[in-house]
Amino acid sequence: MIDRINRLTEQVEALKAASHEELEALRIKYLSKKGEISSLMNDFRNVAAEDKREVGQRLNELKNKLQEKFNTLKEAFDNREAQVGNLDLTRTAYPYQAGTRHPLSIVKKEICNIFNRLGFSIAEGPEIEDDWHVFSSLNFAPDHPARDMQDTFFIAHDLEILLRTHTSSVQTRVMEKQTPPIRIICPGRVYRNEAISYRAHCFFHQAEALYIDKNVSFADLRQTLMFFAREFFGADTKIRLRPSFFPFTEPSAEMDISCNLCGGKGCPFCKHTGWVEILGCGMVHPNVLENCGIDSKEYTGFALGMGIERMANLKFQVKDLRMFSENDVRFLRQFESAY
Ligand code: DAH
Repeated sequence: MIDRINRLTEQVEALKAASHEELEALRIKYLSKKGEISSLMNDFRNVAAEDKREVGQRLNELKNKLQEKFNTLKEAFDNREAQVGNLDLTRTAYPYQAGTRHPLSIVKKEICNIFNRLGFSIAEGPEIEDDWHVFSSLNFAPDHPARDMQDTFFIAHDLEILLRTHTSSVQTRVMEKQTPPIRIICPGRVYRNEAISYRAHCFFHQAEALYIDKNVSFADLRQTLMFFAREFFGADTKIRLRPSFFPFTEPSAEMDISCNLCGGKGCPFCKHTGWVEILGCGMVHPNVLENCGIDSKEYTGFALGMGIERMANLKFQVKDLRMFSENDVRFLRQFESAY
């Protein structure tokens, strides 16, 4: 009999009930008139007189334990019922504070999406680069000032390992590996040795586009630029190209758009010219193609590069560039609805 009591005592802890029916079944099995306890009580009569004391005590303990377990299970049910009873299904939801995308991510994504629609795919490259990919392959003269430590962060000057100063380095990396046609958009972070102020930072972001194929012309570049400007800034946007110089493009140009704040009438933002500068671009220099093993007689192409912070400023009028990297939630929350 002691064995039976012990076995039952062990089982008590594990007892569970998922519904009122299950709880009632437990009660019947253990605590009812025909239950285990009653049956033990009946058998108790036959226990030898000298054992009665010990067995009786154990039996009582088991009975109490069972009763307690039953009560706790029942209480849990009653509480749950009380809670569900108070549930107001018509109450408005607790306001849920959603996270936000960083404004630079929003703009980067939008730029990439526009180029994706034209068939450009995303390409990325390392931020720690070498002189070849950032400068030499891109036709920079050996004495170009960008190669100076005053402009560029060097990691190992003697090994010519440095932090990339522009995303044009990804152009070279892709052209070295892939045979044309090439159509890529390369977003990423770049570094320059600049004093930090409201309009300059030692790191910022760029997006670079490259298109290489047979018969790519300046007209293709212009059309791509126009499409991009209208998609990004709105259908009324006008563009203008001014001649410029970059070592890796020939001819080179800079693109302005009609000021999106005053609509081209002239305001302090566009310095009363009606135009704001957006990006650099041009036809890929034959030397660059040859440096990457692409036959410049067979293939031509265009490239363009823009600053993502600048694009974000034009869209959101952020006056201080430092805001983008300070992680101030009061600033970041303002972009909740931007995407
Ligand atoms: N890499 C240039 C810069 O950092 C931007 C640029 C200009 C990229 C002209 C281009 C381009 O691809 O064709 O200022």
